[in-house]
Amino acid sequence: MADATSRSITFPEGFLWGTATAAYQIEGSVAADGRGLSIWDTFSHTAGRTRNGDTGDVASDHYRRLEGDLDLLAALGAPGYRFSIAWPRIQPTGKGPANVEGMDFYRRLVSGLRDRGIAPVATLYHWDLPQSLEDAGGWVERDTAERFAEYTAMVATALGDEVELWITLNEPWCSAWAGYGEGSHAPGQRQLGRAVAATHHLLLAHGAAVGAIRAALGSPQVGITLNLTTFTPATDHPADVAAARRADGNQNRLFLDPIFNKSYPVDMLEHYQANQPGFAVLREGDLDTIGARIDFLGVNYYSPQTVASRERSQEAREAGYNVRLSEPSPVAEDLGGLAVMTPARPVTQMGWEVASEGLTALLVRLARHYSELPIYITENGAAIDDYVDTERRVHDPERISYIDEHLRAVHSAIEAGVEVRGYFLWSLLDNFEWEHGFSKRFGLVWVDYPSGERLLKDSFEWFRRVIERNGLTASGREVPTIG
Ligand code: FCB
Repeated sequence: MADATSRSITFPEGFLWGTATAAYQIEGSVAADGRGLSIWDTFSHTAGRTRNGDTGDVASDHYRRLEGDLDLLAALGAPGYRFSIAWPRIQPTGKGPANVEGMDFYRRLVSGLRDRGIAPVATLYHWDLPQSLEDAGGWVERDTAERFAEYTAMVATALGDEVELWITLNEPWCSAWAGYGEGSHAPGQRQLGRAVAATHHLLLAHGAAVGAIRAALGSPQVGITLNLTTFTPATDHPADVAAARRADGNQNRLFLDPIFNKSYPVDMLEHYQANQPGFAVLREGDLDTIGARIDFLGVNYYSPQTVASRERSQEAREAGYNVRLSEPSPVAEDLGGLAVMTPARPVTQMGWEVASEGLTALLVRLARHYSELPIYITENGAAIDDYVDTERRVHDPERISYIDEHLRAVHSAIEAGVEVRGYFLWSLLDNFEWEHGFSKRFGLVWVDYPSGERLLKDSFEWFRRVIERNGLTASGREVPTIG
């Protein structure tokens, strides 16, 4: 490890550096210019759903501060920027003609990026489903996939070839399993059979959207972003190995297999057999739609997972792991797994373990077992206990160290032959972190929520230099002084 962190490394020419954000987390202005309600408006305004009752009503106030934020991006100097489009700004009720004012905001964003020499990377769905569609059943209903393809066609036609990379969905696992299985995300339901049906319809929406973008544009680059990770058994006991395999099935293979192999994993089909409506929503031809050719895979990675079988918590403890006694997730409970923590590992403010070797292992697995398509790291980053000091500075060496370590992990995968084409840091700005509200800060830029004022953290200047030299120096983790 010491070696890997002290070496200077250079990324391939043309490597696409960027930051990533999502509409509901930064935009605010939820009632502006005809925007309709999304499931996250409803969820965040429901008592007890988010920390402190925080909502995205104002968030980072990006909608009103677009020009200033574009200038921040220019100052960072990254050649790319990943943002998401709020469906309820385009179609306030999830169907019908495009709302011109909503579309104009994204036209301004895209042309503002192009004017500054930044390639726009657009995510069509980052969790903000129009509430009217949820009222009709949301992702549990097939119709939502069809509506998504229509919405996608409108956006693709309007923004056209100005968009460099199109990402259909962000982390459909979260939409389906956090949204309909755990209830920690909007719409806050807890029924595994509905989560299975939502998974299928989200994947169907993805496949249909790929078709819609290809039909609308000349030669677009289209992909999907998945939240993938490694699931390592706590011990080599068969029960732990089986529990880790099931967790991998639920989060990784349930999405990768249909996208790359046009099939659902047999063990998952069996596991969820009794959960209704579940896989009963699958129709002939769906897997061909889902397996539509894509041009790249987007990977979001934050932390690896170590899994013990639920019956073996005592043995896991004896093997030296920290075992979280109450497992809050009905999804993991049903899978018979228990997430355990490796004691010596640092954790971020989210409580997520920092271990970048998981990223290298994941990337190598994807290339070996699924596809040699180009990969973009579409999210990676760390929430840190940031604060503004008396000199109005935010020193965030832990974030710098986290990014440095993960970039080295990406570079190791490239050296091992994986075609990683870019890296988007989560996130440009501090923002509304879903159920955690404003309590977690991931930004390179501090946002003072009451005033909306922006302040560059040390990591901003550090990342700017990484981008400028297209790599890391031997002393990569040294914290720069902002003059
Ligand atoms: C990912 C989400 C993103 C952000 C980060 C921390 O799962 O895609 O919106 O919340 O986690």
